[in-house]
Amino acid sequence: MSGNPMFSPLKLKRITLPNRIIRAATFENMADADGVPTEKFTELYKKLAAGGARNIITGFAHTSREGRAMQPFQAGINDSVKVEAWQQIIDAVKSYQPETNLIIQISHTGRQTISRATHMPVKGASSIRCTYFRQRVTPLTTDEVKEKVDEYITAARNAQKAGFDAVQIHCAHGYLIHQFLSPFTNNRDDEYGNDRLLFLRQIVEGIKAATRLPIFLKISAGDDRQRGLNLPLVMSYWPVIDSLEVDAVEISYGMMEVAFNIIRGDHPLDPVLKHNSLFNRYHPALRWIFKHFIFHWYKRSFINYCDLYNLENAARIKTISKTPILVTGGIRKKSQIDFIINKRGLDGITLSRPFVCEPDFVNRLAADGEVVSRCTSCNLCTVMCDSKQPLRCYQGPAK
Ligand SMILES: Cc1cc2nc3c(=O)[nH]c(=O)nc-3n(C[C@H](O)[C@H](O)[C@H](O)COP(=O)(O)O)c2cc1C
Repeated sequence: MSGNPMFSPLKLKRITLPNRIIRAATFENMADADGVPTEKFTELYKKLAAGGARNIITGFAHTSREGRAMQPFQAGINDSVKVEAWQQIIDAVKSYQPETNLIIQISHTGRQTISRATHMPVKGASSIRCTYFRQRVTPLTTDEVKEKVDEYITAARNAQKAGFDAVQIHCAHGYLIHQFLSPFTNNRDDEYGNDRLLFLRQIVEGIKAATRLPIFLKISAGDDRQRGLNLPLVMSYWPVIDSLEVDAVEISYGMMEVAFNIIRGDHPLDPVLKHNSLFNRYHPALRWIFKHFIFHWYKRSFINYCDLYNLENAARIKTISKTPILVTGGIRKKSQIDFIINKRGLDGITLSRPFVCEPDFVNRLAADGEVVSRCTSCNLCTVMCDSKQPLRCYQGPAK
């Protein structure tokens, strides 16, 4: 096991990870209604630690009430009550397994939320609506953008206070930073439109000045929009991203406009219509029309699942990057992890659904021979994020 590169330490600028297998940010739905994380997080992270996971990225945590997701039980990191609750979770996990690195993913949803969840107007980089959320979006004023920068910095300062080992800034999946990076949503005529990287740069520089925390980024290398993010554009951003001197960048894909392209796999529609509050309020007749007509049209934009679906983008970025690169998406076998690290030269990998399915997946990987995740990418865990249920695998009995 020690001779295997996936189990060799990953030395980054401000942190050394004990191995190169990282639990990707996976939304837990385990906070209370105010966004205060509950002891369910402790149970989950202890279970992952017991199963060998040494690097755990939390599900996305909001930086402010305005930036909350539509899901009812998203955790936040924007006030002292939440800091205290996180502190208890971190203390409990670290007393159980001191070598566990806990990394919090911080996020503002921007246009990808609903005012029913935030009790505030939905604000984004511009007024362009997300066709999935269908909310009116008010563009942030220049002064408000500066306030958002401060909120990310405060969130990171809070994360340090709580005892997190690092922070991951969510720049992917169509959330607020993605909205600034993408010409599809960033049509601003102020400095944040002239320089689409300025918002991210100010956040990273602010966090560096305010904390000692190692910084990870998660970026979508494409997002299905004609004038959106694509690999050449993202690669053209790379000199600036390198200049930020963050610890590592995780390469992902997509935005909520076509949410299934972020994760790929099955698209179980019935649970979406039943549990997702964007759909379950519809009259049954409307849901029937959606299922039998609209969904078939919408499905034309879905990209089929294949294993390692972000690897080519990540490997291309790696060829020009001075910053260590991690890849997420469809990694299901031990031999694939070997291939990504040994043959494609990436620095590490992140796994989401395999850990939902098998919290002891790292221990299994440490065993001899080929190991294959039991996850079938059925995506019930994904669509049930939108229910009131905490994260779990639905392939069998509750795990
Ligand atoms: C249930 C679920 C929740 C997720 N929540 C988040 C999240 O909070 N933040 C994030 O950046 N990605 C999130 N993702 C995406 C994963 O981090 C990961 O990038 C994606 O699922 C591909 O990896 P996988 O094939 O190993 O599942 C989520 C995925 C799933 C399945």
